[in-house]
Amino acid sequence: MDAARPSTSFGHLALHYRDVTDGALAARLLRALGFVECYQMQRTDSGPFWHFILDAEAQGGADRIIYLMQMPAEIRAVYNAIAREVGGSSEVAQWRLAQAHDPELGFHAAVLVHSLEELEAMVMRVRALGENDAELHGRVRVTLNRARPGTPEVDARMDASPVFADITRYTYGRNGVQVFVETDLVAGGPLGDNWVFEFDYVFPGYVDHILSRPMPRRRQHRRHDGARTKDQLS
Ligand SMILES: [Fe+2]
Repeated sequence: MDAARPSTSFGHLALHYRDVTDGALAARLLRALGFVECYQMQRTDSGPFWHFILDAEAQGGADRIIYLMQMPAEIRAVYNAIAREVGGSSEVAQWRLAQAHDPELGFHAAVLVHSLEELEAMVMRVRALGENDAELHGRVRVTLNRARPGTPEVDARMDASPVFADITRYTYGRNGVQVFVETDLVAGGPLGDNWVFEFDYVFPGYVDHILSRPMPRRRQHRRHDGARTKDQLS
């Protein structure tokens, strides 16, 4: 690898809310997720436009941006037609069932968080909004996958977690966790009413983790003896 070559980053993600009244609610949710609002612009031809960044460190830069704007009328018309024509079909019912079981099934975007404590705090904050907030109640669903068992220190941290301790869903890989925040305030999915943000945390120091190439099953089994894993870097 060329050490002098500048690294490529993720630039921006443009998200749509459907109705004007959903804009401020979607922006509230994005703030609760920990994204940093840089500015908001009123528009005469549609609802407001927001510029968020994933992390305060990205302030003034050109990457890690989330734009939030009202869905163009032409797209809204297509989603309305889809809902009208197939909204009540068995295929849509099956899709909703599958999505309810696995929020990662459809189109989604993932954010890598480098603090498990911040991720846990976000889960508690957003859960409370989805359960108790007058405006966001029923508009947001949080689903957690705790780290697959097998690394003693990771398992101990999971057991001590205020949000992961009681979770019985598990990540596919090891040494990391996943949090899914699903909302109908932002357009996504085949019906335009189901956007999913994924938040990942990877425990540092492991070659084998939730975002790495899956390790051969034979080696994974060998590491379930509680001994310090062979793939650990330090
Ligand atoms: Fe994913």
